[in-house]
Amino acid sequence: MERDRTNTPNKINHIGIAVRDLDAAVAMWQLGLGLAAVQVVEMPERGIKIAFLPCGEATIELVAPLGEWGEISKFLDERGPGLHHLCLEVENLQAASDLAQAQGLRLIGSEAKLGAEGYPVRFLHPKSTGGPLVELLGKNG
Ligand code: CO
Repeated sequence: MERDRTNTPNKINHIGIAVRDLDAAVAMWQLGLGLAAVQVVEMPERGIKIAFLPCGEATIELVAPLGEWGEISKFLDERGPGLHHLCLEVENLQAASDLAQAQGLRLIGSEAKLGAEGYPVRFLHPKSTGGPLVELLGKNG
């Protein structure tokens, strides 16, 4: 597969940060840095709630557990609060995912899911990227 504009990331869409206490984290980012949460979304099916803090063209997403379980709970238990993932935006998610996989990167799960931003996303396993959990977001599917 050829690499072209449609499967090359062209923007950092958001950076996900794992936090235990969403209200405290939102207050810190607001008071300390002047970045305001424009929206808070609860996703019970994933056991998380997310605060969206726009920062230029990208967004800081503070992700906290809704209860005892959830996507972020294990991460918090094992590694504590901090940088959780980096989300890169692509035009064509399928093409970008196929190309990453063909180059030896490991996709998590078997298909794209709808992300909190309303676009389909795939995740690349941190063990295959040299550390960071990388999310690919398809702006046009
Ligand atoms: Co994300």
